[in-house]
Amino acid sequence: MASSLLLALGLWAGCHPCGGREAASSPPRVRCRASRYPVAIDCSWTLPPVPSSTGFTSFVATYRLGVTAQEESRPCLQLSPEATSCAIPDIQMFSMVPYLLNVTAIHPRGASSTLVPFVAEHIIKPDPPEDVRLSPAAGRWLQVQWEPPKSWPFPDIFSLKYRIRYKRHGAAHFHQVRSIEATSFTFRALRPRARYCIQVAAQDLMDYGEPSDWSFPATSHETLGKSGALASSSVKGQGP
Ligand SMILES: *[C@@H]1O[C@H](CO)[C@@H](O)[C@H](O)[C@H]1NC(C)=O
Repeated sequence: MASSLLLALGLWAGCHPCGGREAASSPPRVRCRASRYPVAIDCSWTLPPVPSSTGFTSFVATYRLGVTAQEESRPCLQLSPEATSCAIPDIQMFSMVPYLLNVTAIHPRGASSTLVPFVAEHIIKPDPPEDVRLSPAAGRWLQVQWEPPKSWPFPDIFSLKYRIRYKRHGAAHFHQVRSIEATSFTFRALRPRARYCIQVAAQDLMDYGEPSDWSFPATSHETLGKSGALASSSVKGQGP
């Protein structure tokens, strides 16, 4: 058992130098997202780490609409040739043909390309909602409010919908609220004096692409119970 593990480690270590040389010519791993649809598509890439790599890698990123070679290639905009990201400006919405991105890594020992086909609407992924905040409402109600991600350029035209998940402090699982279009939600009848952790995610209203990551959590402190009590006592004390 132990000896076979050692053997495996030995083989792995033995392969390492040639693994390094392979890595030098392995193509970039590319990911594209439309988090500011329809203004631009943002792509980024990584190269497998190359041990003892000497020399400089630059990248050429081009794209075309349509996968056949007749289409005109345009540059995917990079800040510098070493940059590991690029942007395709002016998305062609609802294109009948996919985009094809070509990222070529140019090493001292050669070049390697990765081709990535995609449809803009399929790679929509908004950034998470921002400024998630809680305010106690009357009694045991708790209101959560948030802003659409600032990177989403036209929330009035390309509407987003939101999911909310919440969890009592110490609970194992989140509960989820059905998708809503509003940017606020009121929880009713929460447990008094319990602490809640609440997060929001955004998704394109038409269900294109995927939902954003969850926002930073907003946490209700024990003030929920206390302010609930305060609110009801002030109603008693100051009511007409
Ligand atoms: C990808 O780009 C490289 C560098 O510009 C080019 O040499 C190669 O032919 C391109 N590949 C395809 C399939 O267009």
